[in-house]
Amino acid sequence: MTEPIEIIKKYYPPESLLFKTLVNHSLFVAEKALKIAEKFPQVDKRFIYEASLLHDIGIFMTYAPKIGCFGKEPYIAHGYLGRALLEKEGLPKHALVCERHIGVGITKEEIIKNKLPLPPRDMVPETWEEKIIAFADKFFTKKINGSVKINSVEEILERLAKHGKEKVITFLEWLELFEK
Ligand SMILES: [Fe+2]
Repeated sequence: MTEPIEIIKKYYPPESLLFKTLVNHSLFVAEKALKIAEKFPQVDKRFIYEASLLHDIGIFMTYAPKIGCFGKEPYIAHGYLGRALLEKEGLPKHALVCERHIGVGITKEEIIKNKLPLPPRDMVPETWEEKIIAFADKFFTKKINGSVKINSVEEILERLAKHGKEKVITFLEWLELFEK
């Protein structure tokens, strides 16, 4: 496949601050995800690298002024919008990482019950690669100046708890699997 950075450049002017914000965050995610992947021989390392870089490619279509996004869609939609974009790029497996990385995943039931602005289908990480990238993503918050804020486990748990106890349980399971 083409270098992921080249795909990002098609949608983000390389001199823009948003390009820097996206790529910097994605490199942090890739580094952490690859470190975890070392412990799992069955995991495709090249795929982890590529999909880590591309998982947030949908953010430019959303409105998140705090990180410099001025699109029309709600931020939560960046996952499935990124999926559609990567499918058009001929990358259906990477596309699923986009759709399934929000929080620790969102179920169809939650989308319907909470009237989330998302198509009603399960958006939950299934493969090792999808889980590792969603996990690593939680540790790095994008900042408008292009840097990342590194989140502690406590901060991550606090944020997830707002979306339900089962989110916390899933993250704690991943923590046990990936950090021990
Ligand atoms: Fe991310």
